[in-house]
Amino acid sequence: MKYHIKTFGCQMNVCDSDWLAQALEKRGWEPAAEEDADAILVNTCSVRDKPEQKVYSQLGRLKRDNPRAIVGVGGCVAQQVGERFWERFPQVRLVFGPDGVASVPESLDRLACAPSLRISHLDLFERYPERERVWSELRQPAQRFVTIMQGCDNFCAYCIVPYTRGRQKSRDSAEVLRECEELVGSGVREITLLGQNVNSYGRDGSGSEIGFAELLERVCSIPGLMRVRFTTSHPKDVAPDLIRAFGRLDALCPALHLPLQAGSDRILRRMGRKYTQGDYMRLVEALRSARPDIVLSTDLMVGFPSETEEDFQRTLEVMQRVGFDSSFSFKYSDRPGTRAATMPEKIGEQIKADRLRRLQALQEELTRQSLRALRGKTLQVLVEGAGSRDNGDVRTWRGREPGGRVVNFALPDHRDLIGSMVCVRVDEVKKHSVYGEVVDEPW
Ligand code: 5AD
Ligand code: SF4
Repeated sequence: MKYHIKTFGCQMNVCDSDWLAQALEKRGWEPAAEEDADAILVNTCSVRDKPEQKVYSQLGRLKRDNPRAIVGVGGCVAQQVGERFWERFPQVRLVFGPDGVASVPESLDRLACAPSLRISHLDLFERYPERERVWSELRQPAQRFVTIMQGCDNFCAYCIVPYTRGRQKSRDSAEVLRECEELVGSGVREITLLGQNVNSYGRDGSGSEIGFAELLERVCSIPGLMRVRFTTSHPKDVAPDLIRAFGRLDALCPALHLPLQAGSDRILRRMGRKYTQGDYMRLVEALRSARPDIVLSTDLMVGFPSETEEDFQRTLEVMQRVGFDSSFSFKYSDRPGTRAATMPEKIGEQIKADRLRRLQALQEELTRQSLRALRGKTLQVLVEGAGSRDNGDVRTWRGREPGGRVVNFALPDHRDLIGSMVCVRVDEVKKHSVYGEVVDEPW
């Protein structure tokens, strides 16, 4: 039997899809192109505009291109739309939400033998549903994600996540550590701890007796683990012990994704973010004094209800002052059921598009500056995959430096370098990455 997975949205979804692929292969399924698959899983996201319509058009296409495949719809849109999917698309025989992922492999096996069966896994549980361990040592890449919590309790006015992923629940710390140790034992050198708001890990009474900084410390001290990252963080929950951790823990990479959303205090208040521009700037200062080389990235939104040009200028101002290395930026759009959806003073599409364009132009400049500062430096790069500039006998490779920026380099021999560490001196700066020369033996 053959499977195909389509993934949209955040790293939580990428991580879920990755687990699904390995779990299915353990059960004897093989990966295949969409047209040849017996089962197709669509892992959906509702953070963008008109998410439901986009999934419907995907399903329409699948019906045309591979009408015999079993289709399963998972992720945030599945959690919201649920069994209505199969009323419209009889080909859909499985729907699953974020807590249903663990049951999907077994369900697909059952569906494959019972053509009239349909299965839904839409319950949200109080505890993080542990998953079968499926990692095979043969397939370990350089880096992996490990989920430490799910859901969110913040209810920012614009956000649908608390409704789709449910309340925050932390995964048991012993399980997290065990998974990390196993990954390191099978060759993984970098781990990214994952959750909607990792900083509030342990503050929900559902699994862990320790907080995030303590968990981070324990993960960082696993022998053989060279790099640890984590995402995503809420600025209001970045505690002093976490800031200190950036100065203390060698394995902790000097990189932090810290969603700002907006620079205007009035907008931040209406969003329910619980910090001001001043709080955010103080946090950045504290982080930079604990770890001067820290690389900061962020999420930004333009056109939240009632945002004026003045408010928008505050966002640009903070971007300039912080000098974000990169950012994800979005035009605000209504999510049914959220507080912001009912707010008056919606901003017109043209204004939103214009603000987004200006914001992204500024970000390009800031990214250029951040990359230019790397010229001439020697960086430790963990190789993640092949580069794009192969030329005869010279193979190129792509990896990341500790701050998370992409570094490309060439090596004129045929070793497989994925998972290796390499020292690279940067001699060329491109729009989104840098190129350099290897100055030491890979290890
Ligand atoms: N409209 C636009 N962007 C949104 N995001 C979340 N909800 C919305 C919305 N309703 C963005 C935020 C968040 C990122 C994952 O998606 O910037 O940090
Ligand atoms: Fe999309 Fe948010 Fe759901 Fe991730 S959690 S899939 S970003 S809506």
